[in-house]
Amino acid sequence: MTTTWDATSFDAFERRGWAGRTEAYENGFARLTAHTVAPLLDAAGVGSGTEVLDVGTGPGVVAAAALARGARVTAVDASPEMAARAAGACPGADVHTAVLPELPFADASFDAIVGNFVINHLGDPPAGLAELRRVLRPGGALALTCWERTSMRATAVFGEAIAAAGIPYPADLPSSGPFLADAEDRAAAFAELLEHAGLAGACARRVEWLHHVDPDAWWAAVITGTPITGSLIGRQDAATAGAVKRHYEALIAPYAHPADGSVALPAVALLATARRPGI
Ligand SMILES: C[S@@+](CC[C@H](N)C(=O)[O-])C[C@H]1O[C@@H](n2cnc3c(N)ncnc32)[C@H](O)[C@@H]1O
Repeated sequence: MTTTWDATSFDAFERRGWAGRTEAYENGFARLTAHTVAPLLDAAGVGSGTEVLDVGTGPGVVAAAALARGARVTAVDASPEMAARAAGACPGADVHTAVLPELPFADASFDAIVGNFVINHLGDPPAGLAELRRVLRPGGALALTCWERTSMRATAVFGEAIAAAGIPYPADLPSSGPFLADAEDRAAAFAELLEHAGLAGACARRVEWLHHVDPDAWWAAVITGTPITGSLIGRQDAATAGAVKRHYEALIAPYAHPADGSVALPAVALLATARRPGI
């Protein structure tokens, strides 16, 4: 059984959950999220001279790619450790520790805002979007990604392995965030959320790829680098964690590459874009 979390409790979990995970995230899970960086920047029209904000920058992969395009980059993350890592990785970017839905920027500061797999980590997504709209200039573009959970094998196999091992879902961990929690058509619901925040021309499309990875490296990446799945498997005793791992190995077996033992796990994200109405 899973429980519904209020915004404050979910945000508090997020702050605890990311603490100490920066290096593991950067070396593991960030290699999955990196696949959407170019489409995200393209969708927001980020190029030479664009004044862009990267929210929830993590170790700064999107911010670094925006800098490489010649953009003027500001980046924020709620985790001081992540922000410090991003600052180190992105000399030339203006990096802050800041927590949505409150950003330390004046109204209409940015030509474009991007957020790669961040909206799904907010306790109050509509409040976060209202703040992003505030700091976006009229006519500016917002582009955000989230996971398309139903067909997202690269991460779904972990939830299925946990269930197959018979681990009951603990009440002190959220099953997921409030973002699109009950949506059946997540793409339509994502676009609607942007429209409800006062943004115009919202649409969301699927981005699909294969995540090529060593199975043991991917297991370690998710266990060490993600707040929910990492916490859930990380707290099990060795025998139970071993059972989860065996189910995981069975679930990923159909995606194995016979030549080198790697797997090619289907990954699917939603990329949503919209503009702040105005000039
Ligand atoms: C899944 S990671 C994505 C990191 C990066 N954008 C990437 O592409 O890999 C989510 C990041 O969002 C940050 N985050 C979560 N809630 C946030 C909030 N309310 N405000 C700002 N950042 C937040 C976390 O600290 C974490 O670094």
